[in-house]
Amino acid sequence: MICMDFFIAGTQTTSTTLDYVFLMMLLYPEVQRRAQEQLDAVVGRDKPLQLADRHKLPYVGAVLMEVQRIHQVTPLAGPRRVTKDTTLNGYNIPKARLK
Ligand code: HEM
Repeated sequence: MICMDFFIAGTQTTSTTLDYVFLMMLLYPEVQRRAQEQLDAVVGRDKPLQLADRHKLPYVGAVLMEVQRIHQVTPLAGPRRVTKDTTLNGYNIPKARLK
């Protein structure tokens, strides 16, 4: 079930986000050029990009966040419930009564 969660939650979200990133890079070639320049300067072209590199890539990070801000692939969150009566920041959230 956990693997299924990852596949369902992780595939469409990631591929659609990448679709929008590629679209925006085509529409804004100057942004693409600056992002590529930062990747080349920080990582180079001879080794793969590592997650640890992200802190050295602020422009690339800002581009990705901006694409996600403009094109929200998950505009609505799925339903949530609490399993016991809960108070959060002064709001009472009653335990969900499932039929
Ligand atoms: C750009 C890619 C992704 C986007 C935009 C995205 C978006 C979201 C959003 C909006 C939520 C709901 C958060 C909430 O309501 O509190 C969520 C939850 C979740 N996502 Fe993603 N996600 C992405 C990638 C992934 C990937 C790659 C995985 C797994 C490999 C994943 C697994 C999950 C899981 C398991 C949850 C439920 C977390 C929980 O409620 O405890 N997501 N995601």
